[in-house]
Amino acid sequence: MKITKICCIGAGYVGGPTMAVIAQKCPNIQVTVVDLNEARIAAWNDADVANIPIYEPGLDAIVAEARGRNLFFSTEVEKAIDEAQIIFISVNTPTKTYGKGKGMAADLKYIELCARQIARVAKDNKIVVEKSTLPVRTAEAIKSILDHTGNGVQFQILSNPEFLAEGTAVQDLLHPDRILIGGDSSEEGQKAIQALVGVYSNWVAADKILTTNVWSSELSKLTANAFLAQRISSINAMSELCEKTGADVNEVAKAIGMDSRIGPKFLKASVGFGGSCFQKDILNLVYIAKSYGLNEVADYWEQVIIMNDHQKRRFSNTIVQTLYNTVADKKITFLGWAFKKDTNDTRESAAIYVADDLVNEQAQIAVYDPKVSEKKVLADLDYLETRTSAQNKAYVASFEDPYTACKGAHSIAILTEWDEFKDYDWQKIYDSMQKPAFVFDGRNVLNAAEMRAIGFVYHAIGS
Ligand code: NAD
Ligand code: UDX
Repeated sequence: MKITKICCIGAGYVGGPTMAVIAQKCPNIQVTVVDLNEARIAAWNDADVANIPIYEPGLDAIVAEARGRNLFFSTEVEKAIDEAQIIFISVNTPTKTYGKGKGMAADLKYIELCARQIARVAKDNKIVVEKSTLPVRTAEAIKSILDHTGNGVQFQILSNPEFLAEGTAVQDLLHPDRILIGGDSSEEGQKAIQALVGVYSNWVAADKILTTNVWSSELSKLTANAFLAQRISSINAMSELCEKTGADVNEVAKAIGMDSRIGPKFLKASVGFGGSCFQKDILNLVYIAKSYGLNEVADYWEQVIIMNDHQKRRFSNTIVQTLYNTVADKKITFLGWAFKKDTNDTRESAAIYVADDLVNEQAQIAVYDPKVSEKKVLADLDYLETRTSAQNKAYVASFEDPYTACKGAHSIAILTEWDEFKDYDWQKIYDSMQKPAFVFDGRNVLNAAEMRAIGFVYHAIGS
């Protein structure tokens, strides 16, 4: 089957970059990314690629190359579905905020809406690809909806989870560790798998394209995120023990990481992991395990989240205790608000929870993040519903310049590991602060000896 037209529903952090790379690598395939969010689509179509809605290193150049050639962004969802042979579903699957499974299960309402829309619009056979992260056996529900349309169209459902990490999305897409495609074992299912393999083969080596059954593919995505998050909670648990015992978590991480069975990656102790995926996907895993009565499995994975929440709270508690048990009316400057460097995404960022704790203590928070606006910072805090918008505004303000943000502060807290923080004139910052001048480095990015030599009271995680 020769693929010439692809559509992707959802122009977010996954749909946008993934389709941009497919379009760049497959100039003979027309790729249309559709979304209900008109403002988002308008931003993807902005004449100045600097204004595309997602900041990812290298993404602007790829969009500039492919957009208008074979990459299109549109709000005409039905037209794109109708024309495409392959339809990727890349919509959000957040944690449910209501009803059964509230706070745990994945909310599949957007997925179901897509399935129903595809069922309604499709006039010829289609391959429907689950790109969103979904609970194991979701393909069954999608298939049931699609097969009950009664218009005789045949649908093949594939699972093709995305493993990109934000901040490195373009490199991850260009050079993936693997591409995972799950499909059913029927002849038609195998043909559909091969059609999608054909798309990726334009730039990914055959031995990196793994095909499995649908359920293995769906569950592998949740498993990968659970294992990655578990490593962070494991090293963060050790960071607390290091602080009590005089061991240094960086040294411990290096020592264990040299064991080839453990490996060096994802062992960076921090203020806690954030992002739209880890917490949501583990909660979903816990919910699935519970729904099968596997309580020990559920408890095991839930501990990863419990440890992460503890690590965030521990960081804000350390700030309060170190600042003589009161931060009321003290200026505390946050360097970084995004959940990691090189992204403008703030979903579930540790910074939000640390700020919320400190505002409860009536601290004045000044934020500087190179890619996050004040509007976003305040919206993130409002979303917690701890207090009114007006109250959040009275306690939290953003600055365009890091030196102004730090001026007069009692303390600086580093919440994101942006590279630029290492290159600041820390002597100048020190001179402009209240004394003693405290730094709480939630990412262990600064040089402790140099900071102390300047005069800072410097706290790192895990030493
Ligand atoms: P996102 O919120 O950035 O984007 C989703 C988009 O889908 C939104 O723009 C929304 O308007 C649109 N949408 C929702 N329902 C729609 C509908 N019926 N029709 C048209 N558009 C609709 O989400 P994201 O971060 O791109 O994540 C998408 C999925 O990919 C999730 O399941 C997530 O778990 C998974 N995932 C995310 C990442 C990541 O790093 N963000 C990585 C791997 C997998
Ligand atoms: C993650 C997965 O890595 C990716 O494969 C999946 O597709 C989506 O979820 P993402 O959340 O974008 O990607 O970023 P990631 O690099 O995994 O970082 C997640 C969080 O963990 C960030 O807050 C990061 O700062 C934190 N982290 C990461 C640590 O605290 N220590 C580490 O060693 C690594």
